[in-house]
Amino acid sequence: MSRCALTRGYFVTFEGVDGCGKSSQAGLLAKRLRSEGYAVVTTREPGGAPIAEKIRALLLDPAHLEMVNECEVLLYLAARAQHLREKIVPELERGAIVICDRFQDATFAYQGFGREVPLEQLRLMNSFATGGVDPDLTFIFDLPVEKAIERLAAMKKPEDRLEAGGRAFFERIRNGYRSIAADAPDRIVLLDGALPIEVLAEKVNMITAGKLKERSFLR
Ligand code: TMP
Repeated sequence: MSRCALTRGYFVTFEGVDGCGKSSQAGLLAKRLRSEGYAVVTTREPGGAPIAEKIRALLLDPAHLEMVNECEVLLYLAARAQHLREKIVPELERGAIVICDRFQDATFAYQGFGREVPLEQLRLMNSFATGGVDPDLTFIFDLPVEKAIERLAAMKKPEDRLEAGGRAFFERIRNGYRSIAADAPDRIVLLDGALPIEVLAEKVNMITAGKLKERSFLR
C-alpha cells in the first residue's frame, strides 16, 4: 500500500499539544470545504474506527498509569494500522479530502520527544503501521505550554492519562513538534496557535486552497 497508488484523494492532518485549538480548526476547515462542494471526511487518532476507538479508551484511561512506553507506542500504532486501512485509505481512494485530528507526527512528538522513545525505532514501526501512507498536508498549532494548560483548565474536563504527564513532558512535546515542522517544510505548516480562532481559520483555508490548486485537485 503506497501513497502513490492513492492518486485521487487529499489527506490533511492537524497536530499540536493538547489545548492548542487543532480540533476546532479541523472542524472549521471541513465545514468550509464542504460548503465549497468538496467531499470531506473528518476523523481522529487514536480512534476513527471501532477497534481503534476501543484502543483509544484504553490509552486515555487515567486508571492505567502503569502503562509502559513500549505498550503505549504499540497501542497507538495498532490503532493507526486499523484506522488507516479501514477508513482513511478507502476514503482517499474514492477521492475524498480526509481531515484527521492527529496522525503520525503525534507519535513522534509525544512518544519520541515526550517519552524519549528513540525516533529511529518509531519511524520504522510507524511505517509498518502506515505502509508508507503520509499526509499530503499537516498543520501544527504551536502554543506556549503555559497557555495550553490554561486552556485545558478552562475546559473543566477531567485530565486523561496523557494530559497527566506534567509540564516538562509538554515542553518536550511542544519543542518536538517545532523540530518535526522544521524537518518537513514541504508538508508541514507551523502556525501560531495563540492567534484568534477566525484569523487562524482564514490562514488554514488559504493554505489548503493553495495546496489543492497546486495539485489540480477537483471537487
Ligand atoms: P486528542 O486529545 O487530541 O484526541 O489525543 C489524545 C491524546 O493522545 C493526546 O494527549 C495526544 C496523544 N497521542 C499520542 O501520544 N500519540 C499518538 O500517536 C496520538 C495519535 C495521540
